[in-house]
Amino acid sequence: MRRKFVAGNWKMHGSLAENQTRLSQLAKGLSQLKTLDMAVFSTAPYLFQCKSLLAATPVKWGAQNISEHAQGAFTGETSVAMLQDFSCDYVIIGHSERRELFAENDAQVAAKFVQAQTGNITPILCVGESLQQREAGTTVEVISRQIQAVLDVVGIQKFAQAVIAYEPIWAIGTGKTATPQQAQEVHSAIRSLLAKNDQCVAQNMQILYGGSVKPGNAAEIFAQPDVDGALVGGASLNAGDFMEICKAAS
Ligand code: PGA
Repeated sequence: MRRKFVAGNWKMHGSLAENQTRLSQLAKGLSQLKTLDMAVFSTAPYLFQCKSLLAATPVKWGAQNISEHAQGAFTGETSVAMLQDFSCDYVIIGHSERRELFAENDAQVAAKFVQAQTGNITPILCVGESLQQREAGTTVEVISRQIQAVLDVVGIQKFAQAVIAYEPIWAIGTGKTATPQQAQEVHSAIRSLLAKNDQCVAQNMQILYGGSVKPGNAAEIFAQPDVDGALVGGASLNAGDFMEICKAAS
């Protein structure tokens, strides 16, 4: 049985004071939830704060990005060793905002996936199609290409220590959610692609849905057989909303 996983991507939001309130609420409200995986993703400056306030809780923390290099003259980047210093369990890789706004390509995404795993940090590999690609009927093709680009570099066995997040770009931060059926269709296609490489890895893979997940729509999305949780953006900034989504998954 796959465990459900609810992950909160805070993006470039927060402050010490704001995080303190939110993290304390999560620590208090989620401490009894032991049946699912939960994590929050802050920007790098706040990872120490996440560690301090969450270490004694079932909620894990991680980074939103990682350098594809181990160390060196890469101004502004954060290495896997640095994330290890803050006991991160996870890192988000290839979020569509990184791909679109910072021009990250499939090769870089694969290199970041490799870096994360060298430090035993679980990559959450994000994939997703644009509205134009969906309307052109190329959704599964686009997603397969994004996953295959990483598979070609690391091989299927490395996916046993990874998570995949399907995030249709047109649903991110727009208030437009994929229907549960649309999500299921793509999640099932992702699992089939993995199964062609290894049945066991495919069966155990946590595949999260992301894109305007809220307390009001979480349950019906989680009810789909191939949806194993959510990567939540906007709603994860509100502790109450995030906790409701976690409870819907538990
Ligand atoms: P959203 O963001 O929930 O605000 O749509 C999801 C994401 O980008 O991970």
